[in-house]
Amino acid sequence: MTPIRACVADEFQQVNALIIEKLQSDVAMVENVGHYIVDAGGKRLRPLLALLAASAQGGVTRDDIKFAAVVEFIHTATLLHDDVVDLSTLRRGRATANAEFGNAPSVLVGDFIYTRAFQLMVSLGNLALLESMADTTNTIAAGEVLQLTRAGDPSVTESQYLEVIDRKTAALFAAACRGSAILRGADRARQEQMAAFGRHLGIAFQMVDDVLDYTGDPEITGKQVGDDLNEGKPTLPLIYTMSSGAADDAAIVRDALAQKDSSNLAGVIAAVRRSGGIDYTREQAVKNQAAALAAVADLPQTAALDAMRALADMAINRER
Ligand code: IPE
Ligand code: IPE
Ligand code: MG
Ligand code: MG
Repeated sequence: MTPIRACVADEFQQVNALIIEKLQSDVAMVENVGHYIVDAGGKRLRPLLALLAASAQGGVTRDDIKFAAVVEFIHTATLLHDDVVDLSTLRRGRATANAEFGNAPSVLVGDFIYTRAFQLMVSLGNLALLESMADTTNTIAAGEVLQLTRAGDPSVTESQYLEVIDRKTAALFAAACRGSAILRGADRARQEQMAAFGRHLGIAFQMVDDVLDYTGDPEITGKQVGDDLNEGKPTLPLIYTMSSGAADDAAIVRDALAQKDSSNLAGVIAAVRRSGGIDYTREQAVKNQAAALAAVADLPQTAALDAMRALADMAINRER
């Protein structure tokens, strides 16, 4: 990550400082839970993307720094809520906030962080940006609900899967990039171009996340393996196995998914691997990475653009 951050290193530090500053509350539990998840780190990819996109369009301003903090706050709030919904127990290498403090504090502090993001955004005084982020946050919420309604459903198709990840994950990556264009008054075409980069990057990122949910090392990802199966999430490795794998492999996956049962996780992983479900998902991620790169091919050649490209590589090759 360090080389990717190099061209916006100072600004990145300012974003981190602002995140800490804006966690302030006179209610102790807000700060306890807020610091618990924020201090655990996280890759801070989305604010980094916002800074790099700004830098690639001419330079990072104080407004870009505020906006980057907004994006990370929205991400953090979704994680607090997501871990409650997914019954997850490990995040960023430590117990999830819901495991440590309970569901109620996680949901309520998630609300605090969401609304703090909007307070910070209002201070930017940019109605177009506010509209983009209100739409995005709403889209993420709808995506999580849509995913919930499809839990345990083995008939979910690849295009239905794409619809979910586009909303729950790619929308925020797209908004992080679009925001930098909005903030400097760029025209619609430039906004769409930046958003397309973020969107394809976000899709690739989530596809790799869905691979790592089966193949990752918890010591490195900081998350448990098998969470998605526990929740009956029909992710692409499973969808591909059910549609294109041998009949017995497809049946292993279908049964585990329908019963939201990860007791045969090793058997499911073996079936998915044999069927090419991991390889296929990675191939689709690589296609999206290529689409992301194509979207920004005509931007001026800058260190920031190189870093954006490196970030797209990292989304594919990452182990955490
Ligand atoms: C986790 O995002 C949620 C997904 C969209 C897969 P990250 O992997 O960016 O989480 P942190 O912030 O680095 O912990
Ligand atoms: C990420 O999906 C969704 C959002 C954060 C909105 P996941 O449920 O796969 O994310 P992880 O794996 O828990 O980080
Ligand atoms: Mg989750
Ligand atoms: Mg996941």
